[in-house]
Amino acid sequence: MSKIYINAAPRIKEKSEKNSSRVIAFDIFRFNAQYDILPTYKRYELTVKKSEVLLDALNRIKAEIDPSLSYRKSCRHGICGSCALKAQNQAVLACKANLFELADRYGDVLMIDPLDKSLAIKDLIVDKTRFWDNYRAVSPWLEAPIEDAPKKENLIEPKVADRLNGADACVECGICFYSCPAVAKNKEFLGPAALAKSYRFVADVRDQKINDRLRFVDSQKTGVWDCAKCYQCYEVCPKEVSPIDKIIELREKGFSAGVAKDSIASRHAKAFLTSIAKRGRLDEAANVRASLGTFGALMRIREAFVMFRRGKLPFTTPKIEKRDEVKKLIDIASRSRKDDQ
Ligand code: FES
Repeated sequence: MSKIYINAAPRIKEKSEKNSSRVIAFDIFRFNAQYDILPTYKRYELTVKKSEVLLDALNRIKAEIDPSLSYRKSCRHGICGSCALKAQNQAVLACKANLFELADRYGDVLMIDPLDKSLAIKDLIVDKTRFWDNYRAVSPWLEAPIEDAPKKENLIEPKVADRLNGADACVECGICFYSCPAVAKNKEFLGPAALAKSYRFVADVRDQKINDRLRFVDSQKTGVWDCAKCYQCYEVCPKEVSPIDKIIELREKGFSAGVAKDSIASRHAKAFLTSIAKRGRLDEAANVRASLGTFGALMRIREAFVMFRRGKLPFTTPKIEKRDEVKKLIDIASRSRKDDQ
């Protein structure tokens, strides 16, 4: 028995090694903003192992084939957020993206791009100035009277820390920011990462500027009401921070703290709840009137006519049966939210 075991071991090892490597081609975006007018794609081929991630491949290309290739990296453990880029148009952390998994999904030729081609400085490196400006704008630090050199940590109970709801896991990679359609459309919008960071301190019981923070993120054009709730940030976040949930929390906290300004968006949110509580369903017409006012609603008469023709705008929205059940659910949700705060 021992003879079979000793002889078989190298063959098993040889076979498993053979099965665990494959050739992958990388078409990498190349561009130097100092000299180039247009970008190009350069192909590099590597035999990669099953355990390797995209960052390993970039490191090998740089070390073994082309030292001019530029990209950001630091920790290699999904902590620093610097290696964010796009693999086959999907935003990923290069140090967390397994090459076999990418090739299984997209094939053995992978297109590698920067997070936003229009912001490329050199190859896969983008200019993140706007991202960091927005990040700084939300004062991403604890505002509390803590001594410069405290003798012990300023701890909070784990149960209280749970209210951060994972917001502290953000690694500022910028994936949500550069994937957000509202950021692309509205140059003033703070974006999902900065708003999630603001929530991280709003939810911290030690912070003493919570209402100032809520007022800041309630601003029109820049703040929470400019999120279109498309959930793209939820889809792409590699750390499962789910910035959209934090944005919704900030809206609700703004109402609870009495700092939410009267605006079309805030009136829309209130009208939505009123409509559900009153009829058990969404009353589109009442919602438009409440959000825009009667004059504003009249200005939309053309859209209303189109909606009516398509059966989306009944003259009256009937109440549903068991409306009391819906009201009970709303009361329970409101109470549990208050308990959480
Ligand atoms: S290198 Fe730090 S997150 Fe990838």
